[in-house]
Amino acid sequence: PQRPYVIDELISAKAIAARIEALSRAIKTEFKDTDKLVVVGLLRGSFVFIADLVRELDLPVEVDFLEASSYGDGMESSREVRILKDIRGQIEGRDVLVVEDIIDTGFTLEHVLHLLQSRKPRKLRTIALLDKPTRRETGVKADWIGFEIPDEFVVGYGIDFAQRNRNLPFIGCVRFLAENEA
Ligand code: PRP
Ligand code: MN
Ligand code: MG
Repeated sequence: PQRPYVIDELISAKAIAARIEALSRAIKTEFKDTDKLVVVGLLRGSFVFIADLVRELDLPVEVDFLEASSYGDGMESSREVRILKDIRGQIEGRDVLVVEDIIDTGFTLEHVLHLLQSRKPRKLRTIALLDKPTRRETGVKADWIGFEIPDEFVVGYGIDFAQRNRNLPFIGCVRFLAENEA
């Protein structure tokens, strides 16, 4: 059903690893006095990023997941965020780090932060690997960003196009082929 496309590499696996190492140093400083940090990954897109990130954090951490969905199989945000799975643990009074793969319109992160904030964590911080600031439709901001990227449809390193390409080890851009190239 999809038009044929190719994927052009935008950010290499090596560049991602180097950036995560630098970000983890900032996070360790921010949470150095925390007993046990709750790291919340937003499924499904963040599953690769959170796996690499927590292994760089030599801090006591608890890993939890929340599943939110707004794109489905399309290329446009539905602007309606559905919580498909909530976190398992209590976060009242705890220090929480939300891990997201990409901020586009910002609706997903805004909705999730609003929900988690209502549970009265002591500290709530956010990290996103990718940020497309030109697409923002909300006021949401992450505390740490891996890379700012142009307005391209990206896949890989956890991010999908209609549920495909999550398993690519790098971040790539989807480029649709013209009929004569396909
Ligand atoms: C994607 C992506 C972010 C969100 C960003 O999730 O993983 O969570 O969209 O877009 P936004 O800033 O416009 O809300 P998606 O809804 O595709 O679910 P998935 O993570 O399961 O792929
Ligand atoms: Mn997502
Ligand atoms: Mg998706």
